[in-house]
Amino acid sequence: MQTEYRHRREKLMAAIGEGTAVFNSAPMAVMHNDVEYQFRQDSDFFYLTGFNEPDSVAVLAPHHEEHRFVLFVRPKDKDQEIWSGYRVGVEAAKERYGADQVYPITELDEKLPQYLKKADRLYYHLGRDRAFNQTILTHWQRLLATYPKRGTGPTALEDAKLLLQTMRRVKHPEELARIRRAVAISVKAHNQAREMAQPGLYEYEIQAEMERIFRMEGGSGPAYPSIIASGPNACILHYIDNNRSMQKGDLLLIDAGCAYDYYNADITRTFPIDGQFTPEQRILYELVLEAQLKAIEQVLPGHPFNQFHDAATRIITEGLVELGLLQGEIDQLIEEKKHKAFFMHGTGHFLGLDVHDTGVLRNPDKTWKPFQPGNVVTVEPGVYIPPNYEPAEDQPQIEDRWRGIGIRIEDDVLVTDNGHEILTAGVPKSLAEMEGK
Ligand code: GLY
Ligand code: MN
Ligand code: MN
Repeated sequence: MQTEYRHRREKLMAAIGEGTAVFNSAPMAVMHNDVEYQFRQDSDFFYLTGFNEPDSVAVLAPHHEEHRFVLFVRPKDKDQEIWSGYRVGVEAAKERYGADQVYPITELDEKLPQYLKKADRLYYHLGRDRAFNQTILTHWQRLLATYPKRGTGPTALEDAKLLLQTMRRVKHPEELARIRRAVAISVKAHNQAREMAQPGLYEYEIQAEMERIFRMEGGSGPAYPSIIASGPNACILHYIDNNRSMQKGDLLLIDAGCAYDYYNADITRTFPIDGQFTPEQRILYELVLEAQLKAIEQVLPGHPFNQFHDAATRIITEGLVELGLLQGEIDQLIEEKKHKAFFMHGTGHFLGLDVHDTGVLRNPDKTWKPFQPGNVVTVEPGVYIPPNYEPAEDQPQIEDRWRGIGIRIEDDVLVTDNGHEILTAGVPKSLAEMEGK
């Protein structure tokens, strides 16, 4: 894996040429008072280094004669390590992470300038960490002040994140292996959830079982807060209270995925808790499934990114008009975004180190970038009819039998050289299988 991290750094360094790039680690996130969440490294930092500690800084200085990759890390400290665990430390970091030079983080201000002063520009992502922004800006201003005398130094600030977005979009086999493992665990949890769901259980009981499987199978936990939404709760897109007792006649929408070794799965299934769709649930389920299958057909190398969303939107809009839930001419409804009353989110996002993974979607001329082999994308259309739905002025009133139904179906799809692979195919989604409890 170290070879792969090195390869990524080399690729980025080739892109930044005479510049210097600085990355700081994620902060420790506070749960409450002085209790912290488990540390999770910033995805860009991790992508380039594999280094998993807070209070660290990575510098890439391709033009530097000796030190092209420099790490600043927490020094070894026996007392601190008793409280918060093992630290790699300065000595071992050099060896293990392939840095040309490693310093204790306490020496950042003293040692950083030597890697900046010959760079023609500074690559840094402003905006995530205000305190660290200040550190970087102070260094930059000092160098600008001495530029007239020295004739070198960064005269522009650029965002390295943009370069990394392009790189991170295409997954390396090592990354795919981790995504596949996250998916396999999540598939198992979804199948178990469908097995155990029944009227009278609480949503959190399903959550507990799924997250138990995530951990028991070696995952680090949920990739995002698990959504276990029964009945009308399914109409709340990010419902995470998970405290309702599930009732006969409810649909259960489960949007849950596991994180495994920094990579994520993101799966949604919706099924009747008692194994039987009502007529309205069935009609809408079939509509969402058709939209999802048609959208997946568009996930092909070379196809522009918007095409799968357009496909899903068209099917759903046509279906809603046919059912009398929307009225008007299809193209105009889509143009005016009327479908958003019932399908209010996008059809998918890239998936990787982040659940909503990075990836530049458009070209400067506003055209959409195409899918490439190695992209992993979610495909997740839905239809949601909130209990208190009120139509826009030009739209029809709806009958109560439609209210309180929320359906989403989400798969994770890998773009291959000639087509795609549905990574999450291990969780059934056909109408018959959803009813086959
Ligand atoms: N679970 C978050 C999403 O589907 O995007
Ligand atoms: Mn999801
Ligand atoms: Mn998703």
